[in-house]
Amino acid sequence: MEQFSLDGKTAAVTGGSRGIGLAIARAFIEAGARVVIAARNEAAVAEAAASLGARCIGLGCDVGDPASVDELAERAWALGPVDIVVNNAGVSPYYKRAELVSVEEFDEVVRVNLRGAYLVSVAMARRMFAAGRGGSIINISSVAGIVPLERQGVYAATKAGLHQLTKVMALEWADRGVRVNAIAPGWVETDLVDELFASRHGERLLADIPMGRLAQPGDIAGAAVWLASDAASYVTGSVVVIDGGRQLR
Ligand SMILES: NC(=O)c1ccc[n+]([C@@H]2O[C@H](COP(=O)([O-])OP(=O)(O)OC[C@H]3O[C@@H](n4cnc5c(N)ncnc54)[C@H](O)[C@@H]3O)[C@@H](O)[C@H]2O)c1
Repeated sequence: MEQFSLDGKTAAVTGGSRGIGLAIARAFIEAGARVVIAARNEAAVAEAAASLGARCIGLGCDVGDPASVDELAERAWALGPVDIVVNNAGVSPYYKRAELVSVEEFDEVVRVNLRGAYLVSVAMARRMFAAGRGGSIINISSVAGIVPLERQGVYAATKAGLHQLTKVMALEWADRGVRVNAIAPGWVETDLVDELFASRHGERLLADIPMGRLAQPGDIAGAAVWLASDAASYVTGSVVVIDGGRQLR
């Protein structure tokens, strides 16, 4: 369907060097877009961009650092107007009860997952407003932002915060044609969770998924293409849950 095409559009995907971000970047390119992927590890992001071909470039960026985010926005917009932004960069560096989390660990998760999405959204949206072409911002949150998951307190709080940020930005930016939505995945088989699923907790976490399996990164990408495309032109402030039924438990 033509409405789902991203022909002529440009997207920026943070955390695009691997996992869900890489799968979304690949799907965007298949749908016709040009894509800028950004991640903290410059060598990894350059390698990922090369693997995606000529319509992709890779840029180094730390989404928690305002100067780095501004440089990303400058460099991405220097290539042409950016129509689609995916705030996918995220960390989940530990799996432990709240009383065991250090202040430094708390700050790092908030810095990347919440402050990062906020900084990138604002830097890109300001430029979208000036260009007057509207845009689509997609925040990759988590089902942990909806269902309370033990040992994921700070991570879950950042993702619940991202849901509310999505809705407020959608409300504030609708009049300028910038749509803001979130995708809340359940467990996805990526580097982020491989240690966790190899640990003693893995079996129980898997048993809680009604569909009985983890998602693959590609399972998340279709919804991102839809939200980025004109097929979703009346969709803003929504949270699309892709979790194999996990939130129903
Ligand atoms: N894997 C899951 O089960 C799962 C479930 C729900 C939501 N998510 C969310 O999906 C997103 C992607 O997760 P993934 O599983 O693909 O993880 P991943 O660890 O495979 O990839 C994370 C990406 O984010 C980048 N990144 C991390 N910190 C960054 C920073 N400060 N600046 C720029 N880039 C940074 C990494 O370089 C990498 O490219 C995250 O927001 C995560 O919270 C993942």
